[in-house]
Amino acid sequence: MRKGGTMAIGRQQLAFIKELYGTRLRISYHAYVRREPAALLHLEPGRQDPYPIYRRIRERGVLAPTPLGNYVTASHAACDEVLRSRSFGVGQDGRDAQLSLLDLDPPDHTRLRRLVAPDFTSRKIPAFGPRVQAVVDDLIRTVPRDQPFDLVSSLAAPLPIAVITDLLGIPDANAEEFAMHGTRFGSALGGIQSIAHARELAATRARLAEIFTEIFELRRQHPQDDLIGRIVAANENSPEAVRPEEMVPLCTLLLIAGFETTVNLIGNTVLALLSHPDQWRLFTEQPELAEQVVEEGLRYDPPVQRTGRVAMSDTEVLGRPVAKGQFVMTALGGANRDPAAFDDPDRFDINRSNANEHLSFSGGIHYCVGAPLARLEAAIALRAIATEFPDLREAGKRVRRPGSLIRGIQEFPVLVPAARRTTIV
Ligand code: HEM
Repeated sequence: MRKGGTMAIGRQQLAFIKELYGTRLRISYHAYVRREPAALLHLEPGRQDPYPIYRRIRERGVLAPTPLGNYVTASHAACDEVLRSRSFGVGQDGRDAQLSLLDLDPPDHTRLRRLVAPDFTSRKIPAFGPRVQAVVDDLIRTVPRDQPFDLVSSLAAPLPIAVITDLLGIPDANAEEFAMHGTRFGSALGGIQSIAHARELAATRARLAEIFTEIFELRRQHPQDDLIGRIVAANENSPEAVRPEEMVPLCTLLLIAGFETTVNLIGNTVLALLSHPDQWRLFTEQPELAEQVVEEGLRYDPPVQRTGRVAMSDTEVLGRPVAKGQFVMTALGGANRDPAAFDDPDRFDINRSNANEHLSFSGGIHYCVGAPLARLEAAIALRAIATEFPDLREAGKRVRRPGSLIRGIQEFPVLVPAARRTTIV
């Protein structure tokens, strides 16, 4: 390649390529040669069905060592302790907090979380019920009848996009464009897969920054009482409340977290229901069980499968030593199937009495800000699906989304047979 020419690869890019493919090679070696369960989680077996892998991790102990000197745990008690412990943190350099709150430790985390949390409390969120119901009714009304349709692009994806863009105050949101940015962002959380993937992600970041910067300017000129309006006002009143460079990552996180996960909660739960006809029948007969269905859906097949923390000092987890700097991967999806926490954990049971003890929204200071909103949206959507489409069935090959960290279905062909169809008027 010619040095300095258009074909030249810069040093930085070369280092990135080496790091990217070196990491992938290392993971593949540990997964397929050494059969290390922690490595398998990152690859195709983890994407298709991580639950048997979690079982193997648990068999290796409460804290299973990983090949790189860290730990992975699929124990409910251990995940819970790590996530709540003050001795653990995200341990990243706060100056490059691309994922805002998720990349921050106190005191920056506390400062920014205080700014947005009041908008998402379980006292405030129910007021969104009528808006959510109206969006769901509209979507249900417009899905094609008597022919297969994609549950994800017709129902599960547009709902959370409409709700979070509304809540943030993004005018004329282009649902399709946001869905694309969300998928790119979400798949990157599990690691960059290729140079093309890295380029796409950079383009997505730039586009979202452009959208938010425009809205910030709009709110400066015409203050408005929505979440973005309040973030802009907080910055204007005191740049220390939220620094200018923190505003785009914060809004990006709220936007992406607001729909990238909820879409998969709806998809995964419908799949669990259709795969367990007795549970589906029970739900169609008693749609008032929707909140319980959501909790068991969250437990059984959660959209966020894992997170992790770094020990900020020498510490212990359930009495086992963890040295400062060691990383513990908390397998949330594994914790939810821990027999020490849930009876017969692989059974999907919408009447399970302690389903809500799942760790699908994480725990401790990073516990999901949007949990009440996600629960509300999913309950309204699932109740409507069970009521309006009691004969819903699968109608083609499902496509899983890429990556194994965010778990969900990307294309979910279903059909509402004509005979027993009911209609909203
Ligand atoms: C089913 C839907 C959802 C699931 C499964 C989910 C899951 C999670 C998880 C596991 C975390 C913590 C990650 C960690 O501990 O490292 C988290 C954090 C977060 N979630 Fe959600 N989430 C969902 C919906 C939402 C919604 C609707 C919003 C709305 C804005 C949202 C906003 C956030 C934010 C801002 C954080 C960061 C909190 C912090 O670091 O303090 N999430 N979510």
